[in-house]
Amino acid sequence: MLPAAFDLLLTNAHLATLTETGARYGAIHNGALGIREGQIAWVGTAADRPRGASARETLDCHGAWVTPGLVDCHTHAVYAGNRANEFEQRLHGTTYAEIARAGGGINATVRATRAASEDELIRQSRPRVAALAAEGVTTIEIKSGYGLETASELRQLAVARRLGEDVGVDVRTTLLAAHALPTEFEGHADSYIDYVCRDTIPAAAALRLADAVDAFCETIGFTAAQTQRVFDAARAHGLAVKLHADQLTDSGGAALAASAGALSADHVEHASEQGVAAMGRAGTVAVLLPGAYFALRDTHLPPIAAFRAHRVPMAISTDCNPGTSPTTSLLLMFNMACTLFRLTPEECLAGATVHAARALGLTDRGLLAPGQRADLALWDIAEPAELSYRIGSNPSIGVIRGGRVTRWRP
Ligand code: NIG
Ligand code: FE
Repeated sequence: MLPAAFDLLLTNAHLATLTETGARYGAIHNGALGIREGQIAWVGTAADRPRGASARETLDCHGAWVTPGLVDCHTHAVYAGNRANEFEQRLHGTTYAEIARAGGGINATVRATRAASEDELIRQSRPRVAALAAEGVTTIEIKSGYGLETASELRQLAVARRLGEDVGVDVRTTLLAAHALPTEFEGHADSYIDYVCRDTIPAAAALRLADAVDAFCETIGFTAAQTQRVFDAARAHGLAVKLHADQLTDSGGAALAASAGALSADHVEHASEQGVAAMGRAGTVAVLLPGAYFALRDTHLPPIAAFRAHRVPMAISTDCNPGTSPTTSLLLMFNMACTLFRLTPEECLAGATVHAARALGLTDRGLLAPGQRADLALWDIAEPAELSYRIGSNPSIGVIRGGRVTRWRP
């Protein structure tokens, strides 16, 4: 049954629905889209528009392309300070891992973040979240991981939630207390993991500040056994898990994530074929982070062909962070994913909408289809490939969030 009325009707639009219409991008040229009660109620060609269905409001899109609102599913956007000095050190030949072992890297940002007040953290982080939103991002995942003690981790998560309300984006929070070993636990990684499992995870769960739990399983991070303990504690508190996996070495992270039923395994440059196959069976999303690959001048490509062969959904994200990916442009990541990883522009758009939503466990967004949340991005482009083709430009001309037009400048 077609709805009798829409709250908002978009006309004169081209739609990249990302649904299985048989056309690339699930495209509908000369389309229209009806919204009711914050959800998409009808999608089709202008010619098929239900006759007699009234609309309280109509938005003439002037031929703009409409996509699902973008989802940036892996960011570390809340932190203080920056690490331009380490960028210079790396250019002089020091590696990311060497800087980390010498007490810099993540721990340098931990010192700055612990020292910043909540208001100062908001002040420094807000422009990053606002820049992402200005590019059509309507859902952002933000991790903690620069506190590495319960109170500071929780403060990061609370700041992330506040920023979502301030800027007007949906923020999903992920507890990443197992990001690095804080200096006060040096030589005692297992004791720190005990603390995370007994103190930080239960506190974040009790205060409902985290939607998921993540860890950094790596030679300079935590072992597979320590990661497993973090996952067990998360599960015991009803929290979903995700993993920074196989970024610098093959640590068996992809298989570990899959066996834990993780929503996603992220980075995964060094994931083995066996790990990829396990992800395919478990439905674990591969989150590709070309910004970190680029910034670290990595040359070990993620196993894209294996992801395709094993039907592992691929998401792409900014990994916005002060060390390995100081970017606030998801569209730049589209271009890098095509240029560096040879993804197709269609895979990029799906990777920053429907697959990114699945990497957060969200099935209510990411497609232009009836029943989905009416989170939409409107673009001044002639075809969807333009979103990936340009390097450092922003064709975003409008955003609809929860059915309400929050930005529109045709
Ligand atoms: O996703 N790999 C670990 N974590 C981040 C980097 C964090 C940092 O260097 O501050 C990443 O690349
Ligand atoms: Fe990351």
